[in-house]
Amino acid sequence: MEQFNIAIDGPASAGKSTIAKQVAKELGLTYLDTGAMYRALTYMALVHKLNLEDETALLNLLADTEISFPSNQGMQHVFINKMEVTEVIRSKEVTQNVSLVSSHKNVRKKMVSRQQKIAQQGGIVMDGRDIGTVVLPNAALKIYLVASAEERALRRYRESIEKGMQVSLEELTADMIARDNYDMNREASPLKKAEDAIEIDSTNLSINQVVEMILDYAKNYQ
Ligand code: C5P
Repeated sequence: MEQFNIAIDGPASAGKSTIAKQVAKELGLTYLDTGAMYRALTYMALVHKLNLEDETALLNLLADTEISFPSNQGMQHVFINKMEVTEVIRSKEVTQNVSLVSSHKNVRKKMVSRQQKIAQQGGIVMDGRDIGTVVLPNAALKIYLVASAEERALRRYRESIEKGMQVSLEELTADMIARDNYDMNREASPLKKAEDAIEIDSTNLSINQVVEMILDYAKNYQ
């Protein structure tokens, strides 16, 4: 039987990962945060002080970088080789550089092939920017999750404050819009809605409402 996969794409801070995680839990599927993979590579590239324009250097680094997602008591952790990087890959420096790293065509090729390999192991909910268009073009259900830039920035701001981070809403908004523009306008698999994706605008919806909507759609496809 064909595996049941769900692709969730959309701009930054639209709530993709929180929602994808809950949907996966409800349906007993595996969850994969593909953004964390690009963040992990970016983190390593910064540690090694690589020139982020240098695709060959990034590819060599990626070849030595095993990225894994061990789950512990329902919490998903991110590891590079044997080092936990769950928190550090969310730093401002990584966030400001990840779009450049992920714009390289051959870096994407390698990441996509890793992601497709993980998907082969069973039904999966994957979130990212090119899941419905490139990684899982045959996914049973494709969601394109959006929300207004103001709402997305506010959500990220509240999250950061809760974590005790010092951030400014203006800076956060500007960084987020710049990252979306970069992701939407790059040459290699830019962020865009797959033709057969269902668009959900979560601006005025709670996480649970969006999860319920996706579970409802999933019923029609299973
Ligand atoms: O999802 P998250 O915001 O953590 O993603 C970080 C960055 O990784 C995105 O801004 C984008 O540049 C890149 N990305 C990508 N393709 C994916 C997932 C993330 O290019 N499938």
